[in-house]
Parts: sequence; C-alpha cells; structure tokens
Amino acid sequence: MKILVTGGAGYIGSHTCVELLNKNYDVVVIDNLSNSSEESLKRVKNITSKSLSFYKADLLDKKEITAVFSDHKIDAVIHFAGLKAVGESVMIPLKYFHNNITGTLNLLEVMNDFNTKNIVFSSSATVYGNPASLPIKEGFPLSATNPYGRTKLMIEEILQDLYRSDKNWNIALLRYFNPVGAHESGKIGEDPFGIPNNLVPYISQVAVGALSQVSIFGNDYDTPDGTGVRDFIHVVDLALGHIKTLPKLFTNPGVMIYNLGTGLGYSVLEMIKGFEAASNKKIPYKITRRRPGDIAACWADPAKAKAELDWEANKTLIDMCKDTWNWQKKNPTGYQKTQ
Ligand code: NAD
Ligand code: UD1
Repeated sequence: MKILVTGGAGYIGSHTCVELLNKNYDVVVIDNLSNSSEESLKRVKNITSKSLSFYKADLLDKKEITAVFSDHKIDAVIHFAGLKAVGESVMIPLKYFHNNITGTLNLLEVMNDFNTKNIVFSSSATVYGNPASLPIKEGFPLSATNPYGRTKLMIEEILQDLYRSDKNWNIALLRYFNPVGAHESGKIGEDPFGIPNNLVPYISQVAVGALSQVSIFGNDYDTPDGTGVRDFIHVVDLALGHIKTLPKLFTNPGVMIYNLGTGLGYSVLEMIKGFEAASNKKIPYKITRRRPGDIAACWADPAKAKAELDWEANKTLIDMCKDTWNWQKKNPTGYQKTQ
C-alpha cells in the first residue's frame, strides 16, 4: 500500500511517516518546506532504517501534484499540509484561505483525475468553537472564530459535499486536540520558526534557556486552578491514530469523523509542573492577561475512535513532557544547527 503524505516534513507528518514505515507502508511525501526542513525526513529514514520518496512541491501548483501521481500509484492520501498559526491567520486571512483551501482543492482534483479517492484530513478541535459542555463529542455544534479555524471547517464541508456527489470517496476527518511531545528517540520533534505560539514549545524553550519565562494567559478562568485546561495528546499516539484509520478507510466507509484526544484535561500550571518534573529545571512564569479568543477548557470524548478504530491514547503527561524535553535538549535550536 502506498500512502501520499502531504505536509510530511512537518511536526505531525514526520511522526506519522515513522509509524507508516514501521507498518511497512510505502510512503511518498509532498511538502513545500514553508514551515519545515527536509532534515526531519532524513531523520525519519534514520529512525526507521527505511526509505521514502520526497517531492519538494507546493499544493498550490497542480502540475507538481500531478507529477507525483504520475510517478506513483497512490492508494490513499493523508493530508497534513496547511498553514496553522491562528494569530497569523487573523492578520493575513487571504494567504490562509488560498494556501489551505486552494491547496486542498488542487489535491482533490488531482486525486479525482487519478481515481484515488481515499483521504484522511487533519482537522482540529478548533471546529467546536467554545463548547457548551465537556467532554466534546463528534456530534457537537461546529463553529469557527478565526480564519484558520474557518479553513478547517470549510475543508470538512468540501469533503462532505464531495462524498455526497460521489460515493466512491472515503474520507476520514480527524479532529486533533493539542498535540505535544516528540518521538522517544529525540531525533524528530516540533521545531517552530520564531517564538512559539503554543504552550508546550514555549515552556520547552524556557527550559533550554532560549526564552526567559512563560507568560500564563490568565488565571481567572472557571477551571480548578484558574488557568486554561486542554487535552494534550502525545504526537506518537496521534500518529498511531492515523495508522488505525487507514484499514478502516479501505473498507469503503464513506465519511468518518473522529476526535483524537486523550479524554483528559490538564491545566497550564499542571503542564508547567509536569515539565519541571521531567526536565529537572525550574520554569519561571508570570501571569498575564487572557489571550483573546482563548476558551477556558477543552477536552475530547475519544470513545468513538476507541470503539470504531480500536485506537486510544496511551502516553501520559509525563511521557509528553519527557519526550519534548529529550528532543529539545538534544536539538536546542531545532533541526538547523544540531549535533
Ligand atoms: P506543520 O506546520 O509542522 O506541518 C505542516 C506542513 O505542511 C509543513 O511542513 C509545511 O511546510 C507544509 N505545507 C504548508 N502549506 C503547504 C503547501 N501549500 N504545499 C505543500 N506543503 C505545505 O504543522 P503540524 O503541526 O504538523 O500540523 C499538521 C496539520 O495538522 C495541519 O493541517 C494543522 O492545521 C493540523 N493540526 C495541527 C494541530 C497542532 O496543534 N499542531 C492541531 C490540530 C490540527
Ligand atoms: C491551539 C490553536 C487551536 C488549535 C490547537 C490544537 C491558538 C490560539 N489556538 O489551541 O486553533 O486547534 O492549538 O493544538 O493557537 N498558553 C499560555 N501561554 C502561552 C501559550 C499558551 O498560557 O505562552 C495557554 C493558552 O491560553 C491555553 C493553553 O495554554 O489555555 C494552550 O494554548 P496553545 O498551546 O496555544 O493551544 P490552544 O490555544 O488550545
């Protein structure tokens, strides 16, 4: 079975490539390296002792996608490629709509041309907006509060319309909660460009000395310790969720929707404490104002994925912190300048 992974050089994509190769899938990657480095794929090969085909190609260029499908008979696509920074999406929405929506349309058109009609799409818990209750189930109402989230919602709808028009499509919409952590080897991990927007990469750069302290965005939420609560999920568990989705996709299920989360919520303060324990470092922090657009708490009901995919997250908060720290200390400046 040959799987095309778009965005495969990125954070979740690279971890998923490892698990695909471990399961003996043939892997082809398309990535324009706009938010990643080819070094991640070299390390994927190093971890697995297996090879993959890499195309530095842009989903905005249909000819480049067509060339890949001409070279390979693809059985299914896992579609990670997209821009993902919420704040940036508010500043430059057209770039986000163009890249994420047009890129996906180009991909789907080429898939259609080559009669490859199996796709797994990276959606996000952001499509639930501010949920009325917790834990979040797949049937909850959907809404978006920023352009990034709107691209996820729109692509989900595009894919559902596509299925309504042609029942030969098989589509998995995987709604990720908060992916963190790194491969246990410490060879691949999250490597954000510039100052991280997200909590765990920020904490980890404080621990390594690249940043001075964490700003906690509000301690007056209606949560046990007043700080935001999220469903942090280890990226390897998340990658394995894709591996469990593929066999089901090949049984012609139509459209499937799954939450990929742990079902547990941890607060910002608990995350800082967990990281201190895992790294044996003091993490200085200060309380600042709430970040606009943030919700108090968010965690998944992952029961549907357990029942239908036989998948559940197994790694603990300490695993997430230890593996993030292992990656960060071995690669203090990410992929670019490491030993
Ligand atoms: P990432 O930025 O590390 O990976 C995305 C990859 O896509 C990058 O390597 C980038 O270079 C590539 N890319 C972007 N636009 C492209 C284009 N036009 N053509 C070719 N390649 C392109 O992000 P990630 O954290 O690995 O996220 C993967 C997917 O999961 C994204 O779609 C993201 O929106 C979604 N997601 C991520 C999170 C998260 O917190 N990391 C949460 C929910 C959903
Ligand atoms: C982010 C995205 C969301 C995406 C989700 C999936 C934003 C605004 N939202 O969600 O669209 O679906 O990732 O992973 O980027 N925090 C701090 N200090 C920091 C950074 C974060 O206190 O420096 C807090 C936040 O207020 C929040 C928690 O940590 O309570 C998690 O934040 P973050 O890691 O950015 O993820 P989300 O906002 O949940």
